[in-house]
Amino acid sequence: MKTLVTYFSAEAGVTKSVAEKIAKETQGTSFEIKPQKPYTEADLKWVNPFARCNREKLGRKDVPVEGKIEDFKSYDVVYIGFPIWYGIAPNVVNTFCKDYNWFGKKVVLFATSGGSDIGQSAEKLAPYIEGADIIADKLIRSNDDLDELLESVYVC
Ligand SMILES: Cc1cc2nc3c(=O)[nH]c(=O)nc-3n(C[C@H](O)[C@H](O)[C@H](O)COP(=O)(O)O)c2cc1C
Repeated sequence: MKTLVTYFSAEAGVTKSVAEKIAKETQGTSFEIKPQKPYTEADLKWVNPFARCNREKLGRKDVPVEGKIEDFKSYDVVYIGFPIWYGIAPNVVNTFCKDYNWFGKKVVLFATSGGSDIGQSAEKLAPYIEGADIIADKLIRSNDDLDELLESVYVC
């Protein structure tokens, strides 16, 4: 089983640190989903209605991604990690997913948040990973949550 761990992390690297642990545990390859135009602190101030994050959300905008995974085809299991934004995955994750052929992939979603659960993230992301089988999705608040997620993936 060849594993790829993709993740987006914007504010404090919370999702990045979970992704790093997963990559280590699974001996997977990491790919950081980075917007071509990096987010500044002001871009992420969701309390400001005119902040970039709010404009992207309301406009359902694509957020172009830096770089490309050349050997995507060779992976069997793909983790996709993200911070919860407005209850679901940020737009940049959708844009990232659109670029690849997901048929036959096993997908595992993981998220971090300020309190919300992972909610409808899987349902909302599904149209962008057509043909993939989402075998697990979990909000990671602790190492126990992470262990549970990894165990549920191993038995699949
Ligand atoms: C634009 C924006 C929207 C957010 N929306 C939510 C939300 O709906 N629910 C929640 O619990 N946290 C929300 N958060 C907080 C992040 O999910 C949380 O801080 C996350 O762990 C940050 O991970 P990171 O350091 O990898 O970016 C939001 C943060 C930003 C910047």
